[in-house]
Amino acid sequence: MRGAAALVLSCAAAAGVAPPAAREPWLDPQRSPEERATLAVAAMTLDEKLAVLRGSVATPWTHPDGTPVLIPRGAIAAAGFVPGVPRLGLPPLYETDASLGVANPNLVRPGDVATALPSSLALAASFDPRLAHQAGALVGSEARAKGFNVLLGGGMNLARDPRNGRNFEYLGEDPWLAGRLAGEEVRGTQDEHVISTVKHFALNANETNRTTLDARIGRRALRESDLLAFELAIEAGHPGAVMCAYNRVNGPYACGNRWLLIDVLKTDWHFPGWVMSDWGAVHGVDDAVNGLDQESGAQLDETEFFGAPLAAALAGGTVPMGRIDDMVHRILRSMFAVGIVDHPPVKADIDYAAHAALALDIARKGIVLLKNERDLLPLARDLKSIAVIGGYANSGVPSGGGSAQVIPSNGPFIRIPEGGATLNWRDVLFDPSSPLDAIRRAAPQSAVRYDDGSFPARAAALAAASDVAVVFVTRHEQEGFDIPDLALPAGQDGLIEAVAAVNPRTIVILEAGNPVAMPWLDRVAAVMAAWYPGQEGGQAIADILVGAVNPSGRLPLTFPRAAGDFLRPTLPNLGAGEGAAVHVDYEEGAAVGYRWYAEQGTRPLFAFGFGLSYTRFAYDHLKVSGGGTLEVQFDVLNTGRVAGADVPQLYLTSAAGRRTLRLIGFERVTLEPGERRTITLTADRRLLGWFDEEHRRWQLDRGVYQVRLGKSAAELSMGGEAVVAAN
Ligand code: BGC
Repeated sequence: MRGAAALVLSCAAAAGVAPPAAREPWLDPQRSPEERATLAVAAMTLDEKLAVLRGSVATPWTHPDGTPVLIPRGAIAAAGFVPGVPRLGLPPLYETDASLGVANPNLVRPGDVATALPSSLALAASFDPRLAHQAGALVGSEARAKGFNVLLGGGMNLARDPRNGRNFEYLGEDPWLAGRLAGEEVRGTQDEHVISTVKHFALNANETNRTTLDARIGRRALRESDLLAFELAIEAGHPGAVMCAYNRVNGPYACGNRWLLIDVLKTDWHFPGWVMSDWGAVHGVDDAVNGLDQESGAQLDETEFFGAPLAAALAGGTVPMGRIDDMVHRILRSMFAVGIVDHPPVKADIDYAAHAALALDIARKGIVLLKNERDLLPLARDLKSIAVIGGYANSGVPSGGGSAQVIPSNGPFIRIPEGGATLNWRDVLFDPSSPLDAIRRAAPQSAVRYDDGSFPARAAALAAASDVAVVFVTRHEQEGFDIPDLALPAGQDGLIEAVAAVNPRTIVILEAGNPVAMPWLDRVAAVMAAWYPGQEGGQAIADILVGAVNPSGRLPLTFPRAAGDFLRPTLPNLGAGEGAAVHVDYEEGAAVGYRWYAEQGTRPLFAFGFGLSYTRFAYDHLKVSGGGTLEVQFDVLNTGRVAGADVPQLYLTSAAGRRTLRLIGFERVTLEPGERRTITLTADRRLLGWFDEEHRRWQLDRGVYQVRLGKSAAELSMGGEAVVAAN
């Protein structure tokens, strides 16, 4: 109540209008969000309603016609702004990007920093819903302390293509993993009274020509894959908003796609929140009747559709008043439900040191050890010399680019000016967490020497004179572009070959936003995938190298063996001119990632779910029971000599006679040496069944369902079966 009153005063004062009486019924927190929204809509004028349906870009910007676009009055410089209704005590929407922390595009807020978390793939690799909740809460709390009340965070498209430039912002290739973690992230954020936005709805699986791309797929397949992930996340997290994508889906653009927005999202899933467009993703006023509720960054569209054209369509009767009220109601309902009216953001200092600890925790839990021949790692304590080579390891760790770019809180970032002389979103930014410094601190007994890797012969000379060589390799990836293939750029493969040729004890650290091709794999002793490890990444890598931390990450997406062994070996539409009408047939359907490899009967380089540890785990006492769904119980045992965390994975392998492979459960469990823990996993029935598109519902056939426990999707161990009833 006190919060509501404070907000009312501040936003009314800013607009120079009398504040509403605190007893206005829509400001009464005792009433339901639905009722409050209905009451507020009834009190609004048409102009006030139309104003909340149109969002502005909130960064200074030059329109293609040369007109400078200023930040709207009252906005915080960031991705977007939607005016409120001061007369009624309804605050503006202050929107910030936030996939990996509160973004600050092109330093639009000079000097403003935030905790730069590891890429979402690292979070996904932790297989830890609790960590996802903490990450969501951290970003929500920082956003709130900076005055924002809407996060454009909750990126969760399935990784269908290992070259998608935005996979680092997403949560991997499996619907259960991505949906479960995204739901927790949303809950974490919204517990801070900041609205979370899951995005990009849907099938924004490639960035190449994303604004013209028609993503084609069967409806049932989409329901059982990407849409299932969204369905699970929305159900668990209740996000206030969903952001529709740039691309088309089976013809219509996602932001005007009646089937996606009305039939699936709002009817079948009963989503009560609002659909906001991506920035520049609206193509007509009709999008309003096809389910879009709010035009974001309206200046970026061909024309500002939800301004005068929407008013004209209303006057002309093509958009009914009831629909306008519904659009407004959805926005207000979420504002009341998440608490941004009753608990407005309060500018506050942020405890960046405490938040850095979480960034470090995620990086440590998300790094995946892929190879460790003859237990080279953890590094022996008596090494005389360590060569650290390449990847700017003397300075920091790379971050992914695009709208998710965060300006780290722990020191000045390092910029490689790919985009030109002034800070540009194509630049490569490094977070200032030097792996070299961290290794020096972690291995004080060894001489740690650095070579920047520009000349393979010089790096090899250092490696030859050292006990071990740690080669850091990087690849920049970002929104707006796909990488053409999985190779490392700029001669880094040659660097690794040169070093490995002279030192068999070569360790490669991959810092990339996607799987990497490893033509040198047989010649190196160890490899770890560190993703973009965030602002504490250098420390996390060093901790794992020396064994201060036992690696526990598991791959959230498949690493292909070679370009030829994955679908669409050539990047679709590579080289198509900007604006060309292109399409991709996602013919794998619901068999995304590991499911496709299982169908083909081929083994990838590193399977989904794979990751090594410095200890060993065993499973026993498996019990499978059926009935309404599958319940599976088993023990996990640490049989090694050090403490560590395992992620046992439960896969469905046969469903009422239908062969399949689907992750239906997982649990991250930390065990001391010799410790045993009993785990019980209960499958969501949708993971066992199939989607009947004709009747628009999930079906479960009665029959025998078989499961196996796995260390990865390609390493299945004991199994069992039970009968599950039909629905
Ligand atoms: C991205 C969105 C982002 C928006 C606002 C778009 O380019 O696709 O994810 O939220 O910009 O910055």
